[in-house]
Amino acid sequence: MALSKIAGIGMYAPQKVVTNNDLLKYMDTSDEWIQERTGIKERRYAHRTDETTTTMGVAAATIAIERAGITAQDIDFIIFATLSPDYYFPGCGVLLQRAMKMKEIGALDVRNQCSGFLYALSVGDQFIKTGMYKNILVVGAEKHSFGLDFSTRGRNISVIFGDGAGAVVLQPTEEADRGILSTHLHSDGESAELLAMYNPGTHANHWTEQKLADFDDAEIAEMFMSHAMIDKAQLFPYMDGPAVFKKAVEKFPEVIMEALHKNGLQPTDIKILVPHQANLRISQFVQKKLGLRDDQVQNNIQKYGNTTAASIPIALCEAWEEGKIKEGDLICLASFGSGFTWASALLRW
Ligand code: UT7
Repeated sequence: MALSKIAGIGMYAPQKVVTNNDLLKYMDTSDEWIQERTGIKERRYAHRTDETTTTMGVAAATIAIERAGITAQDIDFIIFATLSPDYYFPGCGVLLQRAMKMKEIGALDVRNQCSGFLYALSVGDQFIKTGMYKNILVVGAEKHSFGLDFSTRGRNISVIFGDGAGAVVLQPTEEADRGILSTHLHSDGESAELLAMYNPGTHANHWTEQKLADFDDAEIAEMFMSHAMIDKAQLFPYMDGPAVFKKAVEKFPEVIMEALHKNGLQPTDIKILVPHQANLRISQFVQKKLGLRDDQVQNNIQKYGNTTAASIPIALCEAWEEGKIKEGDLICLASFGSGFTWASALLRW
């Protein structure tokens, strides 16, 4: 059975750089607090009107496709991971298919937030291994800047997130012990509400303590989207940061070790670990726990903040562009985030 390999990788970071000090205009925060708690110095914001999650995905995909030595017409399946889609529906996959003038191929949207890229990569990997597709485009892209609470009320979330996109092309490889060796996906929905954007949604009861029986149909319909939601700032993401942090530092090492054990490998075998860029303190904790050297861990949250589904392909792309990844190197990708979901992938480049 042919394994799948990353045949091309690309990234896109919007031009606009937003420093921590720039955020002081909107909220009560400080460069010192943000750097100390997260490691972030700056992030990128997409153009307010000219750029969307899809256009950024297209920019990253264009580079990945070119580096794979193929054209957009050769792609036979799209997997697009994001939590900040252009539309509530349809998803960004079809918008990318249209924008890149691709054939009438399948376009799958993945909604696994910080683990979105690894879930997408894993799905693509299975389609390649079964022989169903030969050139799969996997994209992770986010335009967070459009949906954040920039008042002091939302500062624990808004200072963290940034915009950007990353993409890879998956192809089969006949070389033994090369490509994606294994992927590992997990979830625990018990904590779904600890990092979530509840509205608009069909849950109806998360934002009111009154019994639904007290509401008529028109009022119930209002629960999907209403003026009250806007007034009460219920259309922004919510995060219990410390609870997420606590679980993240437990699950990152666990899922990385799961991948290593599965393949009979040790942390010392890893050339580069590319963790989802959630918080530099989380990455440093994971590095220490696994006994990895500085040169074994790729961190770029300082420049981009947390770009959720885009963070792993962006960090992987930068590592590759910086010449840190050579043929035959063992690469570990790992994520943890909303859901909770967590995942890892082990690749022999
Ligand atoms: O990618 C998805 C997965 N997400 C994560 O993995 C995020 C995990 N969590 C974290 O990274 C951290 O919890 C945060 C960076 C979000 C927050 O850091 P923390 O050290 O856990 O801070 P905290 O939420 O416990 O808040 C400490 C204090 C509070 O003030 P009081 O109550 O002690 O007076 C907050 O109001 O810091 C305050 N605070 C801020 N102060 C200045 C929260 N956000 C800010 C801010 N600027 N931006």
